[in-house]
Amino acid sequence: MRIIIEPDYEGMSKKAAQIVAERIRNKPDIVLGLATGSTPLGMYQELVRLHKEEGLDFSKVTTFNLDEYWGLSPSHPQSYHYFMWNNLFSHINIDPDRVYIPSGRVRDIKTYCQWYEDKIKQVGGIDLQILGIGRDGHIGFNEPGSSLGSRTRIKTLAPETVEDNARFFKNKDEVPRYAITMGVGTIMEAKECMLLASGKNKAEAVQKCVEGPVSSECTSSALQLHPKVIIVLDEEASQNLKRKDYYIYAERIASRLEEI
Ligand code: F6R
Repeated sequence: MRIIIEPDYEGMSKKAAQIVAERIRNKPDIVLGLATGSTPLGMYQELVRLHKEEGLDFSKVTTFNLDEYWGLSPSHPQSYHYFMWNNLFSHINIDPDRVYIPSGRVRDIKTYCQWYEDKIKQVGGIDLQILGIGRDGHIGFNEPGSSLGSRTRIKTLAPETVEDNARFFKNKDEVPRYAITMGVGTIMEAKECMLLASGKNKAEAVQKCVEGPVSSECTSSALQLHPKVIIVLDEEASQNLKRKDYYIYAERIASRLEEI
């Protein structure tokens, strides 16, 4: 695991965008796994800027979103479809035929989820999966107790997640109780993962993810078993890390290794 600690949200966002941009430049037909929520917003803004001002080309990029609320139509302002088009896709030159976001309207959920999994395989798998983290340590909507081998499926949201996400809705009752989400097993098959976290309310989850036991109680901890993970944090989200000094030191001298 590579742990990068930036002073603040802006630094975290820029660093993450820089890494995504570098991966796109190296492989223009890259397959990206994308997350929604507050955390990656700054990164998306920076990617839009890189597209507009520096010509970062998304025309061959394929994307798969992690999740979508079940029951919301794509035009619902709180749907993840709406979020992605509003915050990223409408502002870059992505081919809409290469954009995949789980549908929140399907009835034959099992067949649909299998189709989503097959589609990821058909394009050669996800090269870089972007992740946020919930206060309960979830990635995607893989709430505590989710199997670490789980695949794309419908999941009941934990009360904590409903509460956290109520800030986007008029009130808590409006928050959907289910979501279609990639599984932990699906996420773990990405060739590389990059998890972003900001703010002190994520510090405990980040510590468990990076340094805690690998457990379905904190589904992000499965990333400890992944061969290629970058964790990009702001100062506040890193405050509970026990080996923080080592991570800072390792990151500082990493550039020397690249020269060898
Ligand atoms: C969203 C997702 C979730 C969020 C997590 C953190 O697509 O997969 O796991 O990343 O709930 O959300 P924010 O960033 O709003 O704190």
